[in-house]
Amino acid sequence: MAEEYRIPQHVAIIMDGNGRWAKKRMMPRTYGHSQGSKTVEKICEDAHRMGIKYLTVYAFSTENWSRPESEVTTLMNLLREYMKDCIKTSSKNNMRVRVIGDISRLDADLQESITKLEEASKNNTGLNFQVALNYGGRDELLRAAKKLAGDYKAGVLSDEALQQLTEAQFEEYLDTKGIPAPDLLIRTSGEVRLSNYMLWQLAYAEFYFTDVLWPDFDKKELQKAIDYYNKRDRRFGGV
Ligand code: IPE
Ligand code: IPE
Ligand code: MG
Repeated sequence: MAEEYRIPQHVAIIMDGNGRWAKKRMMPRTYGHSQGSKTVEKICEDAHRMGIKYLTVYAFSTENWSRPESEVTTLMNLLREYMKDCIKTSSKNNMRVRVIGDISRLDADLQESITKLEEASKNNTGLNFQVALNYGGRDELLRAAKKLAGDYKAGVLSDEALQQLTEAQFEEYLDTKGIPAPDLLIRTSGEVRLSNYMLWQLAYAEFYFTDVLWPDFDKKELQKAIDYYNKRDRRFGGV
């Protein structure tokens, strides 16, 4: 008997290859980033139509600050534009938007747009869309450990509570608090590494790698990733 086709509840994406996509066209890397941001918008709509409930994309890593200043500026300006436009699109598409990562290092106006967008979209019941911005898995875990230590010191967390702390309770300290772990990770552009993405949350995700560069990623490619996911046998340590 044919098994039921499963749609992953949460898909995480490492959107990679914008620079190479532009280079192939003899264009500046920044052109690749602006095309890449258009792809994000389309994929959000496609994911929602396919029945995906949570989508988390890696937009800027804690390591991406090491890129040339002009590229960092372009990326920040694109994110700035995105957060502003997204107030409208999120209400049109009933999408809830959250940012994961340490936003305290971003310019004040960008932080403000993020807070506004999160607040404006918080009651939307369609796609849950997370943008990882100045995000690093190690940084997230370190910040979580510091918050936990702060709670212990302040007496919010007793000796006993600390002794018995569960994984679920620890997850409350992560940026992804309240968001289920990804079922499927997609990385474009042929690189086969995590680049510090969602280290805790991806523990049991299925991994799908494709050579397609992010600006070329579309609904058909997303469908291929989900088909791949359906061929996997998720055992979670069992038999
Ligand atoms: C991904 O594309 C976007 C970000 C990391 C911000 P890249 O800029 O990494 O593109 P490649 O990997 O150099 O082609
Ligand atoms: C990972 O891509 C970060 C994002 C997609 C935002 P990178 O292009 O920065 O990763 P590496 O340097 O190839 O590992
Ligand atoms: Mg890259």
